[in-house]
Amino acid sequence: MFHLAVMGDIHSNHIAWETCIRHALREGADEFLFLGDFISDCPYPQKTMRIVYEMQRRYPCYFIRGNREDYMLNHRAHPEERWTYSSASGNLLYTYDNLTDQDLDFYESLDIHGIYMKEGFPPFRFCHGSFTSSSELLIPENKKMEQYMDALDVELLISGHTHIQESRTYQEKKIIHPGSVGLPWYHGGKIQYMMLHGTGQGWKEEFFQLSYDVEAAVREFETSGIYEKAHYWAKLAVHTLKTGDDYSTPCLQLAMKLCEEAEGRVSWPDIDEKYWQQAAEKFGITACNPNFT
Ligand SMILES: [Fe+2]
Repeated sequence: MFHLAVMGDIHSNHIAWETCIRHALREGADEFLFLGDFISDCPYPQKTMRIVYEMQRRYPCYFIRGNREDYMLNHRAHPEERWTYSSASGNLLYTYDNLTDQDLDFYESLDIHGIYMKEGFPPFRFCHGSFTSSSELLIPENKKMEQYMDALDVELLISGHTHIQESRTYQEKKIIHPGSVGLPWYHGGKIQYMMLHGTGQGWKEEFFQLSYDVEAAVREFETSGIYEKAHYWAKLAVHTLKTGDDYSTPCLQLAMKLCEEAEGRVSWPDIDEKYWQQAAEKFGITACNPNFT
C-alpha cells in the first residue's frame, strides 16, 4: 500500500508540524503533500521555513501556496500597502519581517493548485482555497460548490483553508479537507492531518487528530514579542490553540463594526485598539498587556 501524508494550514506552528511529520513517518508515509498557509499567526515563521527546506531535501514532497503566502507576495510587490504593528495587521507585518527573499521566492515558485498523478492510482486535484483563489472556501455555503464539483475532471478534490477536517460527496465525486496542522478548529485544539492510503480500489483517507506540546507553542508567543506587535490577534490565536475555538474573524468583524459605528467610517488596518478591546471582551479574550488598551 502507498501512503501519502496530506498536511495544510500550518500557520507557523512548527511544533505542531514536527509532531505531525514524525507521526506520519511512523505511519509509513511515502510522500508528502503540503496545501499551503505555511506561515503567519504563530511566531517564528523562520523555524517553519527551515522545516519546509528540510522536508524538500529529505522526502518526495509537493507544495502549493495559500492565501497567507499570497499576502506576503502582494506585500513585496506593493510595499506602499500599509501594515502597522496593531491587532489588525501586526501579525502579517511580524511574519513578513521574519521572512527572507529566499522564502518569498519559494512562495513565488508555487502554484495555488495542482494535480497528483501516480501510476496505478486515480489522479486527484488539490488546492489551498479553490482553483482560482487561494482565499475561497470550498464549503457547502459557497454557492459555486455544485458548479465546481460538476466541472471537476477527476473523482477527488482535496482542499485546505477551512481548518475543519471533513469529507463530503457530491454525486460521484468527493471533496476532502484534511484540517489544519497548526491552527486547528474543534477537537479541543488537537492538530490535524490526513493520510491518503493508495489501494487497489483507489484512495482511502484516514484522519488524524493528535495531542502535542501546546504549552510550548503558547510559550513562543511570549518569548517572540508577538503580543507587543500583533496584540489581540495574537491573543485570539493562542485561544484557538488552547481550545480549538477560533474567534479571529468574528472578532475582527465586530471591531470593524464598532469602529464604524463610533467614527462613521472604518478602513482596515486602521482600527483603534479600543475597538479591538471591546470586541475581544465579547469573546472572553482579555488584554495580553495593559499597555495595549
Ligand atoms: Fe488559508
